[in-house]
Amino acid sequence: MPSPNPTPRSASGSAPGKLILAGEHAVVYGHRAIAAAVPLFAHVTLTEQPGPLCLDPLCLDPTRTTDDRLLTALGTLLPADGLCVSVRSELPVGAGMGSSAAIAVATVRAWGALHGESPGPDTCFERAWAMERVFHGNPSGVDHAVSARGGVLRYRRDPFEVSTLRLARPLRLVVVHTGPPAWTTAQMVAGVRDRAPWATLDRIGALAERVDHALSTGAAVGPLLSENHAMLQEIGVSTHALDEACISMCRAGASGAKLAGAGGGGIAFAVVEAGETAPVLDAARRFGPAWELTVAAA
Ligand code: PMV
Repeated sequence: MPSPNPTPRSASGSAPGKLILAGEHAVVYGHRAIAAAVPLFAHVTLTEQPGPLCLDPLCLDPTRTTDDRLLTALGTLLPADGLCVSVRSELPVGAGMGSSAAIAVATVRAWGALHGESPGPDTCFERAWAMERVFHGNPSGVDHAVSARGGVLRYRRDPFEVSTLRLARPLRLVVVHTGPPAWTTAQMVAGVRDRAPWATLDRIGALAERVDHALSTGAAVGPLLSENHAMLQEIGVSTHALDEACISMCRAGASGAKLAGAGGGGIAFAVVEAGETAPVLDAARRFGPAWELTVAAA
């Protein structure tokens, strides 16, 4: 005889965030971007329960996951009834580290797990598009490609191309969160489109090819990242705090630094190719929460 109160079925999935090493904004217009998965994750748990799709109120840490579009976005991947969704994210929200993409891919994995499946990277990538469109309008797809595949990727939307970039040596990075951007990614992308800085976007695309070569051969990459930052300033997506954080981290010993993601606030990162990371971390902390990350060589 079935138990009167069967334990609800539940399943979980996780996925990493990302840092765009080169090529943000230009990737929206068909250029290649280089992006790395980072060891910070979004975790999603789905629990069967009667009633409309809902978010577990206990999971909603106000600094992290209370984006009012989240439930709408989850509704693109999940049925309208019968599930409670718990989201826990180690990633800062809306700051350029791909938190929405990580939640999308984690949700695809959790849904698969609930049905005894383990969706592969291509399936995760294809399914997560729908949720990313809610957050980003017309995303290039680079965020959730990295979240679904991990590692360091070369990514192009038009014509579509994705491949793993094998780092010749590990990348030691210091990341700083300079504060929440005043605009969403969709608004930042629309602002760039309105300003139409096509020549600079072409130069950002060409620079991403040089970053690819440097990372693949072990040549110095820092100065290229700083060049990329200057181009992002030109297209109007940097802020005073991002500029100052990059300058300070370079003065403290980083070989280069740039904002990452849509800009308008959020994160910047520096690469430390010689010497200690500690002074760079100290410099970064003057601008907000900061931490070290290593992207491993393949
Ligand atoms: O800030 P994020 O993590 O949403 O990254 C956006 C990257 C852009 O190139 C600006 C937009 C895109 O869709 O690629």
